[in-house]
Amino acid sequence: MNLSPEKITLRQPDDWHVHLRDGNILNTVVVPTARIFRRAVVMPNLQPPITTIQTAIAYKERILNVIPKELDFTPLMTLYLTETLSREVIRKGFAEGVFVAAKLYPANSTTNSKDGVTDIRNIYSLIETIEEVGLPLLIHGEVTNQDVDIFDREAAFIEQILDPLLHRFPALRVVLEHITTEDSVEYVGNSKFNIAATITPHHLHINRNAMFEGGIRSDFYCLPVAKREYHRLALRRAATSGKPCFFLGTDSAPHLRAFKETSCGCAGIFNALNAIESYAQVFEEEDALDRLEAFSSEFGPIFYGLPFNEKKITLIRKPHRVPSSLHLGKTSEHIVPFHAGEILNWLCER
Ligand code: NCD
Ligand code: ZN
Repeated sequence: MNLSPEKITLRQPDDWHVHLRDGNILNTVVVPTARIFRRAVVMPNLQPPITTIQTAIAYKERILNVIPKELDFTPLMTLYLTETLSREVIRKGFAEGVFVAAKLYPANSTTNSKDGVTDIRNIYSLIETIEEVGLPLLIHGEVTNQDVDIFDREAAFIEQILDPLLHRFPALRVVLEHITTEDSVEYVGNSKFNIAATITPHHLHINRNAMFEGGIRSDFYCLPVAKREYHRLALRRAATSGKPCFFLGTDSAPHLRAFKETSCGCAGIFNALNAIESYAQVFEEEDALDRLEAFSSEFGPIFYGLPFNEKKITLIRKPHRVPSSLHLGKTSEHIVPFHAGEILNWLCER
């Protein structure tokens, strides 16, 4: 890594959690991701979800087909766990190198999670196989019980589901995805188990006030929802701590504007347009730019047991305004990016 007041050169990063969608949206949103990241762990929550080897291979092909020739980009595919899945899919999908991870969505916890898991005990046999083959288990860590306050669902998940799960399957390799609380920072940071966490740019920038600033602002609604300020500060300390158990995962989750701005708007923030710039801003504010490379480009590959990327990327200090929307082709359909209309200080050469 090379640091000067005007320029940062770092090993090319990977995105360890992204939603690329399908069809027209895929064509539009994959390019910003592929311009910066060398690899990305692609979430399987399509409709229907990716639950077979064949559909994962076909989805990967669709992604690769729309990547511009000059870009080197590898989508890393994931398996959506359901209660009716066979152990064979896990064994075979892992042996054939189709899946880099399995994804656990508690049923009805987030976008396209209705086919997810209603009770963790129903997939114990699958988890046994996941543990046995050594496939990372990626977890959307929220309980879905309506009796639990939405702001407490991540902390409740750790206590009720995650901690007992790790004690039952102590060799599991787990990533607690897109953490939003001090509770998660402490749990992951102090765990004796093989657990890491991804942290998104938006949870480092906003707290829950952002959703209610002068009115209801669906652009800042995502799951898990942003929490109180002290949680955001804990996430910033974790991301910039230099601890290998915290690494980059954008959770870029595009939804058309029309589906966000409605009486029941979708959860998800699209940050792929400027994710690395957004992280760089946080690391600079925390006086930790020297730790950006490890968080973005090293701790992820180390956890997944994959080689570091060889190429470098360069960020230059060039304050610029983030566009207010990204259109789908020439249509009026559009997605509002994270930081829309704001100034970001660093710009990555693309
Ligand atoms: C994601 C989506 O839209 O697919 N939404 C989100 O708010 N993060 C799903 C998810 O990761 O929870
Ligand atoms: Zn996600």
